[in-house]
Amino acid sequence: MAPQVTRWPGLHAPEDWADPVLSAAELARLLAVGYGLWRAGPAHVVARVRGAEVADILSIYTPPAARRQGLGAVLMQALLAEAKAAGALGLTLEVRADNTAARNLYQRVGLTAQATRRGYYADGTDACVYSLQFA
Ligand SMILES: CC(C)(COP(=O)(O)OP(=O)(O)OC[C@H]1O[C@@H](n2cnc3c(N)ncnc32)[C@H](O)[C@@H]1OP(=O)(O)O)[C@@H](O)C(=O)NCCC(=O)NCCS
Repeated sequence: MAPQVTRWPGLHAPEDWADPVLSAAELARLLAVGYGLWRAGPAHVVARVRGAEVADILSIYTPPAARRQGLGAVLMQALLAEAKAAGALGLTLEVRADNTAARNLYQRVGLTAQATRRGYYADGTDACVYSLQFA
């Protein structure tokens, strides 16, 4: 059975929040300015869905023990469906060129590589720009 995706209802982080990149305090700030948090089991995605504008994704994270069980894909598919229904035009995101898992995930749910930003990250790693247009 496919894991269920639910949208976090509050403006605070869940008790079991564990994202190495996004702290609970930073998440709370984002939730207060219109970002949403979607969860599937222990995995989550933090993103903003705005009508008629591009939706952006700030963090998608599955704890190591729960990886490769389809949670990331289920979250992305739910987010894409919600963004589309809300009237978003599409989605653009950057990912480290060396993040094979995330790049494969994005391609698997229909995003395509558009460009490379050379030396985009502080350590000199390139960023790959992926996007998906709904219309
Ligand atoms: C990227 C991440 C969210 C994927 O989550 P996940 O729940 O394991 O993803 P899924 O199980 O839904 O995998 C979906 C597809 O992604 C790709 N994928 C996932 N992990 C992969 C890996 N380690 N190596 C290669 N491809 C991978 C595969 O195409 C996979 O489909 P398959 O299992 O049928 O081959 C997870 O690895 C993670 O949290 N990484 C650390 C945080 C991060 O890098 N976030 C992205 C920042 S932009």
